[in-house]
Amino acid sequence: LHSDPDSQAFGESRRRNVHLSNAQREVYFDAGYLLLPQLFSSEQVEEICDNVEHDARFSGPHNVPESGSTEGGTVYAPHERSELLRYLVRSPQLLGPVQELLNSDVYIYQMKVNVKSPLGDNKVAWHQDYTAWATADDLPRPDLVNVAIYLDDSTEFNGSLMFVSGSHHGGVLGRHRNGGNSQTHLDPSDIALRAGDLSELVTQERNMASTHGTRGTAVLFHPLIVHGSHPNMSPVARRLLIITYNAVHNLPRTSHPRPTYLVGRNTVPLSNNDVPTLRGASK
Ligand code: SIN
Ligand code: MN
Repeated sequence: LHSDPDSQAFGESRRRNVHLSNAQREVYFDAGYLLLPQLFSSEQVEEICDNVEHDARFSGPHNVPESGSTEGGTVYAPHERSELLRYLVRSPQLLGPVQELLNSDVYIYQMKVNVKSPLGDNKVAWHQDYTAWATADDLPRPDLVNVAIYLDDSTEFNGSLMFVSGSHHGGVLGRHRNGGNSQTHLDPSDIALRAGDLSELVTQERNMASTHGTRGTAVLFHPLIVHGSHPNMSPVARRLLIITYNAVHNLPRTSHPRPTYLVGRNTVPLSNNDVPTLRGASK
């Protein structure tokens, strides 16, 4: 990743493009995911966490608690309520790489913060995101990029993201539904891959990989890559922020759109020209 030297801090990085190197692009297209260690500084993560925590106090349909816990759960679309997060999704270190990978202008399809409670049961079964979006939203193409940002150090103990390297090359796999709640909420377990699907993917060259790193590390991942995460066996919560960018030409075709906190309907191309300078940002 390269950019002007002083462009990393919030508020100073406007209008500076950040580019992936050719080697990084190759890793993304070949493996289906790309780790960007410490893309955000500890101070920036602190600021993000302050905003995420503040926002999580408000209840509503967008705030879905993990069953049986007070700490865990998912909060959707916090960028619609926090100025700092509104800026984060437009920051050049995210927008630059994503626009380049998709070769397109982009908008926010979905944004969420997933918190796994300490010693919680919450595992995320192996799945492909695009299967959910094709099913629930009739999304024409997998022209999206996910950006996951670790808000806590990601270790072998706390349920970090795991990928099957290269699994995005095979298109939509094992397209079946395991029952599940409704069209509105598609749980990964509803579209989970079965052992048979997986055993074909996991080979000597293509294996399962866990992504570890300090907080502030980001992982860009393809909407077709098989991924999941195990339960959090550590004594502290695991917070993961995921932003899904969609190419502006790839709009859902369903006549029954899901709520806007699940699937963004503001399809105006994102740009970092229109965001105010936010140092020590508002909440
Ligand atoms: C996801 O696949 O969207 C979430 C995975 C996780 O929170 O570990
Ligand atoms: Mn997923």
